[in-house]
Amino acid sequence: MTERTEGPREETTPADTPAVSRISRRDFLKISGAGLAGAALLGVAGCGGGGGGGGGSAVGITFATTPDPTGTFQTLIDEFNSQNSGQIEVTYREMPPDSSQYFDQLRTEFQGGSTNISVFEGDVTWPAQFALPGFVLDLSDRFTEEEQQGFLEAPLQTNVYEGGIFGVPWRTDAGFLYYRRDLLEQAGISAPPATWDELKQQASTVQQQSGTRYGYVFQGADYEGGVVNALEYINSAGGNVLDPNDSSVVTVDSPEAREGLTTERSMVEDGITPQAVSTYKEDESTAAFLNGDAVFLRNWPYVYAQAGDSAVSSITQDQVGIAPLPASSDGESVSGLGGWNLMINALAEPEVQDASYELIRFMTDPEQQRRLATEGSYLPILQELYDDQEVQDAVPVVALGAEAIQNTVPRPVSPFYSDMSLVMAEQFNASLNGEEDPETVTSTLQQELTDIIEQGQGLA
Ligand code: GLC
Repeated sequence: MTERTEGPREETTPADTPAVSRISRRDFLKISGAGLAGAALLGVAGCGGGGGGGGGSAVGITFATTPDPTGTFQTLIDEFNSQNSGQIEVTYREMPPDSSQYFDQLRTEFQGGSTNISVFEGDVTWPAQFALPGFVLDLSDRFTEEEQQGFLEAPLQTNVYEGGIFGVPWRTDAGFLYYRRDLLEQAGISAPPATWDELKQQASTVQQQSGTRYGYVFQGADYEGGVVNALEYINSAGGNVLDPNDSSVVTVDSPEAREGLTTERSMVEDGITPQAVSTYKEDESTAAFLNGDAVFLRNWPYVYAQAGDSAVSSITQDQVGIAPLPASSDGESVSGLGGWNLMINALAEPEVQDASYELIRFMTDPEQQRRLATEGSYLPILQELYDDQEVQDAVPVVALGAEAIQNTVPRPVSPFYSDMSLVMAEQFNASLNGEEDPETVTSTLQQELTDIIEQGQGLA
């Protein structure tokens, strides 16, 4: 346990984080008297907790993810535990469903030097933020270029930071338009909407005929999902928050960005979307749709699996159609690149890190990727599964996913992203609920995002 190349980096925490985080990780352990051995003791949660087999020699690791409404993660973990019985014992820990809250909770744990979590599922925007302060392991030695073969390029890139690779893609995400196939047919509509204007027309036609409560629901709350949704409107109108060629240049104060926000707000103003959408996250919007209360829903692929579960859905998969998100009238369909990578706590004991990487290999092998797709309708990160007819037939989102993935736009890759996200979430939410007009929002954001980047770069 002496020198490890992947060990935590020192003194690299951004200047705008609280003072405590500026103590280097190694200093922290010295001060707290824990040392790596002490930290490792904390890390070996789960050891002996559940029939670890003769003598408790299994390495205990704790695996954290967002809650999985489809139950597939638990199935895979059980499978891993039974295959590795007596050697590795995974304890599963569910974190908040809201990506922003989950991030805050993890960051607080890592700043405190905790090794309670050994390996975790992290949002695509996190690697740079956790890599900079040295919270997660650089996996370059293990996840080599050869190992990376066959992975989709865009999710892979979200893990790259300053020449290292800090996570392994696990599942990718793209926003889709879910629609009530049955209600559209009854209204004589033969194809789902290609533009936002068409969506409004179709929604009101169907609402009038069927009495469905809402036309369209999506995620508009003041959190990460609200950022993704607003960015989709902005991107599909041809706007950007940052210059795609230079992510230190803020470009949000543009007519295109204002057009995008105007379209988003018009869903509420035109009565297609309830005002309450500005409080909706994934769960609220999904519930409205699966309850039969909405004609259209914007959401991630796993919702399709939920529609097949009568315990949570009063409609069936037969009633649900899936399409790319609509485009602005002169633009193209754009979907936010979402998804989750697997990362390892840099402070975990070497044997815990090794066992964690075993779990990562298992979770990303073709067989488990296939199960994630067929049982949970999660989009795989291995190209070969998109070419697999059996998977395509079983999971329509995968068939559509191949195309949707081509249209995804990533969020800014920045070690300061969480601060940027906070102000975007707040401003986009103010625009959606009508508190601020798009002009004010785009000019406020231009200023605030520039300040964050300059401060982060130590220029201010
Ligand atoms: C989904 C996406 C993730 C995104 C989140 C926002 O989980 O995979 O990337 O940040 O939704 O709510």
